[in-house]
Amino acid sequence: MEEELIGIKNAALSFILEAEDLKSLEETKLQFLGRSGKLTLAIKAVTKLPIEKRPAFGILANEVKQTIEEALEEKAKSLSNARKTNLLEKIDVTNPGIKPPLGHLHLVSLAIEEITEIFEKIGFVKVRYPEVEWDWYAFEALNFPPNHPARDDWETFFIDEKPHPKYGPMVLTPHTSSGQIREMTTNKPPIKMLNIAKCYRRQSDVSHVPMFHQFEGLAVDTNLSIANLKGVLDYFVKSYFGKDRVSRIRPYHFEFTEPSFEVDVSCGVCKGKGCKLCKEGWLEMGGAGMVHPNVLKNCGIDSNKYSGFAFGWGVERVLMMKDGIKLDDVRTIYSDRMEFLEQF
Ligand code: DAH
Repeated sequence: MEEELIGIKNAALSFILEAEDLKSLEETKLQFLGRSGKLTLAIKAVTKLPIEKRPAFGILANEVKQTIEEALEEKAKSLSNARKTNLLEKIDVTNPGIKPPLGHLHLVSLAIEEITEIFEKIGFVKVRYPEVEWDWYAFEALNFPPNHPARDDWETFFIDEKPHPKYGPMVLTPHTSSGQIREMTTNKPPIKMLNIAKCYRRQSDVSHVPMFHQFEGLAVDTNLSIANLKGVLDYFVKSYFGKDRVSRIRPYHFEFTEPSFEVDVSCGVCKGKGCKLCKEGWLEMGGAGMVHPNVLKNCGIDSNKYSGFAFGWGVERVLMMKDGIKLDDVRTIYSDRMEFLEQF
């Protein structure tokens, strides 16, 4: 077996000597030192030797391996030096260089930047609150009683952690509305908050991803009314979708707002007349409403003195509505399909 090792060494050295480029050198390396390389297999066969012969075999095997590795290294150095000299001779420095491919921000990041700028212009301050949150912030302080069936609409991920004695179980934020509670319990009115964050829900199909983004606006002050909310909605719709677009509010129900609305934006294709895309001239954008007095109270804000309005919409949703992106599967946004991502 020792002879076999010596044979392998000699064969490897002569291959290395003859290698004409780095590629064939690499092949030689694989052939001898790779996972099923000749030397590797020979070393594995040590188990066939009687125990007393194994140490000597081991020492020899190591020496052979080291010799081959050193020879490979030396040869690689001399081949790449030769290659450099060769290249230098051939380079025409007046040739234009090869441009490295340039990436860009993901379309969701671009939308978040744009939305932030729009709201910052009218004084909303961007904030960030925890993505891993207590039930109290995500639900209870938002006026969802414990075990209330409305909670089922927010298909929530629960964290396997001991519930907080005061704030209840730990969850992944299923909506950015939890940021309203964080904001109102840490700041006093007047408040103008924009919370843009990741949200998580137990859903994955052609129109849902388990992680998505929402942007949530909250304003609390004296004398705020639905008129202020409508003004902000229209301002956003015109800034984001275009001057000729308008918003519309329809009565709806959310636990944390009273009254509550669904917000629609006029269709960009038919300008509100009704067409194949929108059917009746309007596209659904998301929820909004006047902050429920119980929510203000839960945050220690006097609901007789202050009122507030809030809205929360999906980033992915508004960006798809804006660009007229028709996706058969919303999960494409988070896929690695370059031909899709490169369009933005
Ligand atoms: N949090 C709600 C959701 O995820 C959306 C929402 C509705 C946010 C009404 C609001 C609001 O701020 O006022 O579906």
